[in-house]
Amino acid sequence: MTDGKPGPESLPAMAQRAAEVYAEVAGARFGGPRPTSVAVGWAPGRINLIGEHTDYSEGFVLPAAIDRLVAIAGRAGDEPVASVYSAHHDEWARFRLDGADDAGGAEKPPAWARYVQATWRQLTLAGAAPPIPGFSAAIVGDVPLGAGLSSSAALEVATAMFARALGGADLEPLAVARLCQQAEQAGATVRVGIMDQAAACLGRPQHAILLDCRSLAAEYIAANLPGLAWVVFDTATPHELAASEYNVRRAQCEAAVARLAPALAAATPGRVVATLRDVTMADLATHGALLGETLLRRARHVVTEDERTLRAAEALRRGDGVTFGRLMNASHVSLRDDFAVSCLELDAAVEIAQATRGTLGARMMGGGFGGSIIALVERDELETLATRLAVEYPARTTRQGQLIVCALDGQTGARRALDSA
Ligand code: GLA
Repeated sequence: MTDGKPGPESLPAMAQRAAEVYAEVAGARFGGPRPTSVAVGWAPGRINLIGEHTDYSEGFVLPAAIDRLVAIAGRAGDEPVASVYSAHHDEWARFRLDGADDAGGAEKPPAWARYVQATWRQLTLAGAAPPIPGFSAAIVGDVPLGAGLSSSAALEVATAMFARALGGADLEPLAVARLCQQAEQAGATVRVGIMDQAAACLGRPQHAILLDCRSLAAEYIAANLPGLAWVVFDTATPHELAASEYNVRRAQCEAAVARLAPALAAATPGRVVATLRDVTMADLATHGALLGETLLRRARHVVTEDERTLRAAEALRRGDGVTFGRLMNASHVSLRDDFAVSCLELDAAVEIAQATRGTLGARMMGGGFGGSIIALVERDELETLATRLAVEYPARTTRQGQLIVCALDGQTGARRALDSA
């Protein structure tokens, strides 16, 4: 992360844009002279190469930050309120920062603003918010919303960076990720794991992050395979079930552990089984009957996905895209059949991609029930895939999806006193 000191040349274009948009809209709303100095924070969206629905069982994930950012620029104000403009929604939101909304039953801010509010609240609770009463700010970005590229995590981390730029605490990246995870849980009432926020904090150009979600140890693995591209296809499916079913899956993982732990401890005195991370396929073979059909399937997904993720990381280290692709395909089967978080549109897009020449592997990505798929594709065959998806996906689903070729990047940062002139 940059810490606010480097020169203007290292400011990403999106951060510059946020400063310009802020100067424009703040002038129109509040009047007064055009601000010459603003604070700005920014953070990227992410893809996840493999390791899905494993983070909250303290397993392994392999995300990578991408070249699409959310940036927020603004300055301190005298009242205990935030006035925030979203360029995407072309809308202002105003909310209190001192918690008075909760007491007064005031109208809730729009969903996008709640991520900013929730992040600020977590920073305040942690004693990491800047010593200012309030602020005004503008948000811009090019992380598509609802496509499973974690635009909300990018917004949360960008908000935390913005707070740092305004004089807030200079927290470690993983401390920022944890605060933002808590903000997401509060803002969206989904008990998410740490993957998205960690990726938004830890990303590096051209690298994926093998994150151990128990120890939070991160290993960077070069992920730009020669001749291959990471491609996302947004299925344009609203993921209505995502929040409720996500919480159900998480509870099922916990229920499986609650049933297995005593039996495994009885079989091996002293053995501690805290999460599905501690369970093996051999355990499921001997004690799976304790779980019943549904919980056994859920547990099997997590246990096998952890194994696949470690094998995929190994394949990536040696530049073996073919093996990586096969593991992606197997991940999709497991997410679809055992974890039951896919849907017709995700399956259709994955099947079309897998049947296309030059696609080494494809699977659904993220929480599921909509959002995107990810595929590993030969660059020379990108057009072939684009054409087939453009024709076959609408025919099978009556929806129009969108193909996004992702460049791996990892720009996260904060800048104080930017001259926006
Ligand atoms: C969402 C959550 C993550 C993770 C994925 C599934 O993106 O925010 O924490 O659980 O789903 O892998």
